[in-house]
Formats: sequence, C-alpha cells, structure tokens
Amino acid sequence: MVGRGGREHALAWKLASSSKVQHVFVAPGNGGTALEKGVTNVEIEPMDFDGLTEFVRKEKIYLTVVGPEEPLVEGIVDFFSDQGLLCFGPSRDAARLEASKSFAKQFLKRHEIPTADFKVFETCEAAIEYVRKIEPPIVIKKDGLAAGKGVVIKESVKEAITAIEDLYRSPSEPVKRIVIEDFLEGEELSYIALVDGLKFRAFSTSQDYKRIYEGDRGPNTGGMGAYSPVSFVDELLEKKIVELIVKPTLKGMVEEGAAYRGFLYFGLMIDKKKNPHVVEYNCRFGDPETQPIMMRLESDLFGLLENTMEGRLDEMDLEFNPGTALTIVMASQGYPANYETGSIIKGTESVIDAKVFHSGTVLTGNRLLTSGGRVLGVTGLGTQFSDARTKAYDSIKKISFAGQQYRSDIGHMELKRIPK
Ligand code: AMP
Ligand code: GLY
Repeated sequence: MVGRGGREHALAWKLASSSKVQHVFVAPGNGGTALEKGVTNVEIEPMDFDGLTEFVRKEKIYLTVVGPEEPLVEGIVDFFSDQGLLCFGPSRDAARLEASKSFAKQFLKRHEIPTADFKVFETCEAAIEYVRKIEPPIVIKKDGLAAGKGVVIKESVKEAITAIEDLYRSPSEPVKRIVIEDFLEGEELSYIALVDGLKFRAFSTSQDYKRIYEGDRGPNTGGMGAYSPVSFVDELLEKKIVELIVKPTLKGMVEEGAAYRGFLYFGLMIDKKKNPHVVEYNCRFGDPETQPIMMRLESDLFGLLENTMEGRLDEMDLEFNPGTALTIVMASQGYPANYETGSIIKGTESVIDAKVFHSGTVLTGNRLLTSGGRVLGVTGLGTQFSDARTKAYDSIKKISFAGQQYRSDIGHMELKRIPK
C-alpha cells in the first residue's frame, strides 16, 4: 500500500483482513498502520518509484495498491508495469482526469457529460477581463493538483479579481493556467467506482464535508468528515449518474486511448431537479470517504482488486453493511493553513465503539504524536445513521491532543433528512 493517510490506513486494514493476504506493507504509513495487525510500515516515500519497486522485488510482493494522486499522476502504474510488476491504479494518461482541471473540463465537454460551463485562461489579464463580465459567485480553479484546496469561490467580482491576481503572483507556485466556471447549486455527492476499461462496479455512495468550519464555512480542506451511504440517492438518480456520467466517462477514456483502470472518484453536484453534474474527477479513492466506505465493505477488497486486474470485475460480490458509517476528522490547530506537529495524542486505545483511522500521526517509541494537518478519522458504524454518528462523537471525546479541532456537525445534511 503506497501512501500515509487515513485512506491508506483504511485500505490497508481492509486488505489485511482478507484470507488471501499474508501481509500488508505500507510505504510509508503512519502511527495507525504501525499498530495495525498484519500490517508493517516501510520507510519509502510514495514518489520514490525505484525504492518501491526494489522493495516489491525483494519482498516478492504480489500487488501494490496506490492511495494518493501524486504518484498516479506521475506514472507509478506505468513504471511498475514496465518492469512486469502488478500495481493497481490508473496509468499516467488516465490519471489526467485529476491531474489537469483544463483537461478534465475539455474532456467533459467533448463527451457531452453534464458539468458547469467553463473557460480556460492562460493569462491573468484575460481571466480578469472575463470575470468583469460575469455574475458572482465566481468559481476559480488552479490547473494541477491541489489536494482539494485549489478552488476558490468568490461572492463579488472585486474579490475574484484579487484571488486571480494572487494565484498568478503566488511566490511558491505561480499558476500557468486557470479555469473559471459557472457556480453549480445543489448538494454534493461522492460516487466512487472500481473501473476496468468499460466495466465498472460502484461502491456505495458517500458525502464529505470539505469546509473547515461548522455550517460549511471557511476554506476548503482535504475533508473534515464523511459518511456512507447518502439516503437521497434513489434508483432514478443512480441511473442518471451511471448513464449520463459514469458510462460516457469510461467510454470517452477508451476512445481517447487512455482506458481507465483503478478507483475512479466522481465528485458530483446534484441539483434541485436531482440531476447530476460533474464537479471533479479524482483518480483514486477519496479521503475521508474511504474510511466510512471501507468500514461498511463486507466483501474481500483484495479479491475485488485481483478480479479487476484479471478482467473479471463483473464476476464478483460487492456487499456492504446496510447500516451507515460516519467518520469525523480530528485536525491540528491552524489546518488547512499552517499548523504545528508533535503533540502527544492520548486516548485512542480507549475507543471501543468506533474504528480510529490515522492520517497525520507517527509512532515514536510507544508515544503517538501528531505529524500532519488531518490527524485522525474516528469512524462509527451503526444500523441507523444516528447510531453511527453517536458512536463516532462519543468516541472522539475519549481522544485528545493539544490544538485539536473537529467539526461538531458532520452529517448535518443527512440529519435533516431523517424523519423526527
Ligand atoms: P474541486 O477541487 O474541483 O472538487 O472543488 C472543490 C470544491 O469546490 C467542490 O467540492 C465544491 O464544493 C466546490 N466547487 C467546485 N466547483 C464548483 C462549482 N462549479 N460550483 C459550485 N461549487 C464548486
Ligand atoms: N474528500 C475529497 C477527496 O478525496 O478529494
């Protein structure tokens, strides 16, 4: 398993539970994977492709699964397959669906897949000239990977102009190209599928909470919580998602010579008429959506991946616990901007009613310390939505570290839908 986040902890945990799996190594993993049964961390960075393939050969590892986008976008799967090694994920070409917002938007347009209208700009001046002519809210996206943080939505033309100037002026990573698109109203939905060319199997639906503050305010983060399934997705909506979005996407990729294999994440906006629109593609599983989905997955994840690699994706069971799972992310103070690390985390071992997936943690001796912005994903599973939520919130109270922050309203959209 390549990666170090909560998603990788959840995937490694699930893979390790397979009767077909002897052992899971996580490169480099975190404090949670260090403590997980059947799982060992190895100190290799996700972008060290030589180090990873060397380790895979030395340990005779059968399958490598890649969690984060960066190695996928940089071609880790191509690198492995050139050496005859099995690596699960999309090729570099297929990963462009996430790597470049302008590629993704143009792809959506070419294949007539519903998405917000947009324009791509190469220069700051051209972008500003355009923004002066449109109505807010104005959605401005940086072209390239941004860990969910490359989008700004501005309520006035003036603010939008400042945001564009800032992007072009950014001393650390000035942008070359931006996308400006229409604002989509509605409710977001994460739809993640296991894909092999034209074949796919959808995982259960999920929804993440992207903003840092309660009431969905403040800047976007990688995700402050998530739950699965989402009750407003009925048969008709799922049919629209499959027919209007999933199938044309897979077909489009095949036609363009970049057949997709791997997890494919459709970030959707569902409008008032219950029509889906693509907000973004991700070439991987979502984080934190992986955590509640893996908590509910009853089928053998390793078996699913093995079947997919053998072209037998349609022959397998894909069963989920019919209840709900809900994950609350505990983050470091200051996240998603600057934050400190190295705080001692207490209480994770006393959690019994929930699963604690780690992201930014490190085990030093027998001390668990914070090492990232998002630190833990406390995940409850229950027959009813409210059981899952109560388990997660009761469990989080047992955990503490200096500067901890978490949202107290994860799942509020679903809560409103539940009859009193
Ligand atoms: P992205 O990185 O493209 O997923 O965008 C991050 C977040 O910004 C999305 O999850 C939405 O919450 C919001 N967003 C992006 N594009 C739009 C849009 N066209 N209309 C409304 N909200 C958007
Ligand atoms: N939770 C959103 C993402 O993984 O991109």
